[in-house]
Amino acid sequence: MSEIKVIAIDGPSGAGKGAVTQALAARTGFHVLDSGALYRLVGLAARRSGLDLTSEKAVAKLARELDIAFKPAYEGPEPLAVWLGDSEVTHQIRTDEAGVDASTVAALPKVREALEDLQLSFRKPPGLIADGRDMGTVVFKDAGVKIFLTASASVRADRRYNQLKTKGMDVSLADLLESIEARDKRDSNRSTSPLVPAEDAIIIDSSDLSLAEVIARVWSVIENSDLMGANTNAD
Ligand code: C5P
Repeated sequence: MSEIKVIAIDGPSGAGKGAVTQALAARTGFHVLDSGALYRLVGLAARRSGLDLTSEKAVAKLARELDIAFKPAYEGPEPLAVWLGDSEVTHQIRTDEAGVDASTVAALPKVREALEDLQLSFRKPPGLIADGRDMGTVVFKDAGVKIFLTASASVRADRRYNQLKTKGMDVSLADLLESIEARDKRDSNRSTSPLVPAEDAIIIDSSDLSLAEVIARVWSVIENSDLMGANTNAD
């Protein structure tokens, strides 16, 4: 079992995992794994190759051979620029359609298996903050801190609406709510790695909390765990 510390942040789409993850990364100096981005990239790569998104073997092969890179972003709201082969797809993978495609390929067990080593490779000193659906239950079962961040579907749809609007995307709130509910259902009911809190996860419902309040709660969980050692630069 690895000595390198992991903080797992799981939960449904729009619960605020990304913002919490970035805040924790700034405080701890830990690396970040945005596992949702990997499934989004697989979905996009499959579309580009003209594959049927449910053809498990072909999509899994593509996932194993995924040519991707995360590079520092110089402008815009995303912390990292995401590349697929020769093209930058930072914004393209964040659309709602890309999220739906991601959850379609994520339901295929062989695709999940194909992405496992890539996800494990993000575990590097001084530590990792892993954001996803199955970080604490499957990929990093030995994570020192497991948070399950959730919020009601309507609050999550509102947040997503504002986020996408800020990014200049044209979206409808009603469509987003419908899509979030459909995605929740697919993510929660799939047979492999369904969206469920780990038994040892701390559940935080952010419906009535500000981002700062959520971060404060998560931070207090971390401070009260035995995760905080000399190798973080938190004050
Ligand atoms: O987190 P994000 O919304 O980017 O994830 C997109 C989709 O990828 C999710 O709806 C889910 O189906 C899938 N996913 C997953 N397991 C993860 C991360 C994301 O199945 N660890």
